[in-house]
Amino acid sequence: MKTFCTSPLPFLGQKRKYLKEVKSLLQHTAPNGTYVDLFGGSGLLSHTVKRHYPNATVIYNDYDGFSKRIDNLGTTNQLLNSIRALLTGVEQKAKIPEGIKQQILELIKKEEQKGNYVDYITLSSTLLFTMKYEQTFEGFTKQTLYNRLNKNPYNADGYLEGLIIESSDYKAVFEKYKNTPGVYFLVDPPYLSTEVSGYKENYWKLKDYLNVLNVLDGHKYFYFTSNKSQIVELCEWVESRKEKGNPFNHSHTISMTNKSKNTIYEDILIHNITR
Ligand SMILES: C[S@@+](CC[C@H](N)C(=O)[O-])C[C@H]1O[C@@H](n2cnc3c(N)ncnc32)[C@H](O)[C@@H]1O
Repeated sequence: MKTFCTSPLPFLGQKRKYLKEVKSLLQHTAPNGTYVDLFGGSGLLSHTVKRHYPNATVIYNDYDGFSKRIDNLGTTNQLLNSIRALLTGVEQKAKIPEGIKQQILELIKKEEQKGNYVDYITLSSTLLFTMKYEQTFEGFTKQTLYNRLNKNPYNADGYLEGLIIESSDYKAVFEKYKNTPGVYFLVDPPYLSTEVSGYKENYWKLKDYLNVLNVLDGHKYFYFTSNKSQIVELCEWVESRKEKGNPFNHSHTISMTNKSKNTIYEDILIHNITR
């Protein structure tokens, strides 16, 4: 069976660069253990664990419906084939002329009308500018299209084989498996305050991000983060002042709403003048 070293369909934030490290860490974990991929995304980590340890129980939490994209890959390939036929005179990476764009949009619309699943994430990564994602037909109509189609059809044969698929908020999946003896959690939450428009959930606040850390208590885990989140520094700082506690304890807060062209936020004054 083929082992994938990258997600078979485009997926922003997949951990393909970490697979070598993960596999080397797996040398020290249980071959028959239970592994729960709480933020499964493309399923690449789940797939990697299952291929490495075929006898392990691997739970892939597919919160985004990635497996639906895999189930409909045949339809997606057919649509891309029809689009490819329209692009014979258009160079790779070149802008697609307006007339051809309209024909492509017509093809997509027909798929929707037939009630077929339209994989807008794959369409985005093959027809829109790098890192641009649109989730709806309307969104697509407003974009400039580029020829970023691969020559070959997508192939995901056997990719999800052997995985137990859940599709819930990570907290529910954690509750379900937290008492499984020796369980390993794979924890790769969405990025904090970076571009995540390819995801269903597109804004994670600091509190959401910190709450995820509760799943690490007393469990074996693989936790992924980025230096952009500065979560490790924050936790070290909190630990360094365990005795003093929250510097804002017993203080009072005054906030004011600030509106500018594109944003709205609260400006805050915190005071403690009665110590
Ligand atoms: C950084 S990605 C994970 C990538 C994955 N490890 C991979 O290799 O493809 C984070 C994933 O968590 C999903 N997610 C967002 N909110 C969630 C929630 N409340 N519970 C579970 N997953 C969530 C996002 O949609 C996204 O797919």
